[in-house]
Amino acid sequence: MHTIIEPFRIKMTEALPITTREQREAWLASAHNNVFLLNAENITIDLLTDSGTGAMSTHQWAAMMLGDESYAGSTSWHRFENTVREITGFKHIFPVHQGRAAERILSVTRLKPGAIIPNNSHFDTTRANIEFAGAQAVDLLTPEGQDSYSSKPFKGNMDINKLKHLIESKGPKNIPFCMITVTNNAGGGQPVAMENIGAVKKILENYHIPLVIDACRFAENSYFIKKYEPGFSGRSILEIAQEMFALADAATMSAKKDGLANIGGFFGCHNDEWAEDFRNVLILTEGFPTYGGLAGRDLEAIAVGLKEALEYEYQRYRHATVEYMASRLITRGIPIVRPAGGHAVFIDAGAFCPHLKPCDYPGIGLVNALYIEGGIRAVELGSVMFGRHLPGAPEEIPAPRELVRLAFPRRVYTQSHFDYVVEVLDVVFGRRDAIPPFVITKQAPFLRHFTAHFGRNEGP
Ligand SMILES: Cc1ncc(COP(=O)(O)O)c(C=O)c1O
Repeated sequence: MHTIIEPFRIKMTEALPITTREQREAWLASAHNNVFLLNAENITIDLLTDSGTGAMSTHQWAAMMLGDESYAGSTSWHRFENTVREITGFKHIFPVHQGRAAERILSVTRLKPGAIIPNNSHFDTTRANIEFAGAQAVDLLTPEGQDSYSSKPFKGNMDINKLKHLIESKGPKNIPFCMITVTNNAGGGQPVAMENIGAVKKILENYHIPLVIDACRFAENSYFIKKYEPGFSGRSILEIAQEMFALADAATMSAKKDGLANIGGFFGCHNDEWAEDFRNVLILTEGFPTYGGLAGRDLEAIAVGLKEALEYEYQRYRHATVEYMASRLITRGIPIVRPAGGHAVFIDAGAFCPHLKPCDYPGIGLVNALYIEGGIRAVELGSVMFGRHLPGAPEEIPAPRELVRLAFPRRVYTQSHFDYVVEVLDVVFGRRDAIPPFVITKQAPFLRHFTAHFGRNEGP
């Protein structure tokens, strides 16, 4: 059969709010034109993030009832540890309340001011935690990865020559570890090839630099490898994931993505000294190392979810959903990053709104127009999220691309919801000239996109 169906049926429903344009205009105005500040009850289709927004399976809910809430050494911890070890092979495994907790503890324990951390593309929280420790986060994406319209596979790959040059010019001693993010969320949800991870590892080994995988979407990345990388079609997604983790010295993980859970994450590593330092800060800030800020029931849900994310039928359906939406937008001439990513469709807001400059924040204009038109919540991944203000410089350095991400919560929306999103986008695209420029009227020093206030730039 050609039709790829949702490999689940629905047992419980949650009503979607149906709202009016007038209501949405008023709500957005009182949220200072920042959709992060809207109440979720006022959103019809919420594509803000795929993080922690998935629907759990019957097996996950059943496992939650087995949650052992003992403070130390619970049976839920052992189930969690065994599952994470089976997939990753790490000697040391620590639960954390979400991915950024792993990033923060890794940064405070391993980074000194002046250190440099390369990555294919740092996600916002990774970059912020590295910079907060006084270190520098450097993105080393390949030229194809930066080209929104090249339809080559594996556009999340790291540029090997740039990596070599960085190590040689800055000195390996200044690079305490190198990261690689699978899939590359900041760069369009594009996958990284096994061959590329292997090549990165080989270079790093020459300089004794450890490799840390940001593994949030490890299962989606493994599916891409199975589908598109020569030599992997006959391997299971689990085997591919195991091979990928075998190349890493450590990993940070947000289980809110490919853990199919609503909260949680972990850090894994082989090095005893790294583990000792991590454990000490974990106890100080997250909790005892066998629960790390999570309830026993959360550990159970993650243990089941990690395995479900590796099921072939689930991944096939998930990727088909993203491709379904991407192909319909391409047919309508709506500029999106190609090929479709693993967890989201990324719209090129710069090309969508050619009348706006990066300093007009076209991504914010588009995100706000989608909300007003159809109650859809998306997120800007452009100069608000990734723009940089260097000390002393009069103007901000814009992000390399002005993207808007429509992230797909896992197992939540059906095909008709996506048809609705396409229709709303079509209408907004027809009236794109009316999308106004925005200015920031209030911002925080880090991760400003979460809380910034925006105003329409009415001009001089
Ligand atoms: C690539 C990547 N790394 C790290 C994180 C941080 O994870 P968390 O939101 O669980 O802190 C995210 C979250 O979206 C992500 O996409």
